[in-house]
Parts: sequence; structure tokens; C-alpha cells
Amino acid sequence: MYNFLTMAHSGWRYLALLALVIAVVKYLMGWLGNGGWGKLDRQIGLITGIVMDIQLLLGLILWAVGAGMGIVGANITRTVEHPVWMLIAIVVMHVGQARVKKADDGNKAKTAAITFIVTGLLVAVGVARITGVM
Ligand code: HEM
Repeated sequence: MYNFLTMAHSGWRYLALLALVIAVVKYLMGWLGNGGWGKLDRQIGLITGIVMDIQLLLGLILWAVGAGMGIVGANITRTVEHPVWMLIAIVVMHVGQARVKKADDGNKAKTAAITFIVTGLLVAVGVARITGVM
């Protein structure tokens, strides 16, 4: 059970990273280009949010199951540090998305680009820490 969840959570990262890269590129193009905001921008934000929330859910289940089995408690990076980085990343993403909704059309792409760049950096640090890259 724990191994299956780890594989699902670990594998889903590629979708999450792909969604984040697409969002950053699209929003940067909008911000630095014509500054426009359209249906595709809204859809990218929605899909990236869902992909990230599924990653969060898998992480929470993994954490709870691992804690129940006494697996995650043994390692502070897995138990505390990685979840904290990721929770901050996801809160930043949701707060940013709420700001995008409220922003004027001319500022939506800029707000979204900044939101997803910061989210992506936080996710990259969280993944780098748990995979031992950093
Ligand atoms: C965007 C959010 C997240 C991403 C991209 C992410 C990514 C990853 C990756 C890539 C690994 C596997 C490392 C490896 O293969 O060695 C991992 C492991 C883990 N994640 Fe996450 N994670 C996220 C959120 C969370 C959250 C919110 C929690 C808990 C509340 C969590 C709990 C864990 C745990 C406990 C492991 C260790 C699994 C193990 O090797 O025993 N993750 N995560």
C-alpha cells in the first residue's frame, strides 16, 4: 500500500511539473507580450490547480499511511520539511489564483506568471530536498 502510494505520488510529480512549466511559459508570454487574457489562460490555471491539488492529496494520504506504519516518522525531511515546502507552495498558488481572479484584465497574466513562478520554485526546492539533490 505504502509503496503503491509512493509510486503514484512520485510519478504524479512529472504531471505537476509539466503543468507548472506550461502555465509559467503561457503566462510569461501573455505578460511580456500583449498582456492579454483569454479562455485558454483560465483553463491552464484550472487544470494546473487540479493537478497540484491531486499531488497534495496523494501526499497527505501517503503521509498519513506512512505515519500510521511508522515509516515517515523516522526521517525529518520526509515527515516535516517536504510537506511544509509543498503546503506553502500550494497555499501560494491558491492565494495567487484568487488574486488573478480579482485583477484587471491587463494585470491577470502578470499576476498569474508571478504566482506560478514562485509556486514552481517552492515545488522545485521541496522535490530537490526529498530526492537528495539539494
Ligand atoms: C506539489 C506538491 C508535491 C510534490 C511535487 C511532491 C513530490 C514528491 C516526490 C517527487 C517524492 C518522491 C521522492 C523519491 O522518489 O525519492 C515525494 C515523496 C514524499 N512526499 Fe511529496 N510532493 C508534494 C507534496 C507532498 C505533501 C503535501 C506531502 C504530505 C503532506 C507529501 C509527502 C511525501 C512523503 C511522506 C514522501 C516520502 C515517500 C517515501 O519515499 O517514503 N508530499 N514527494
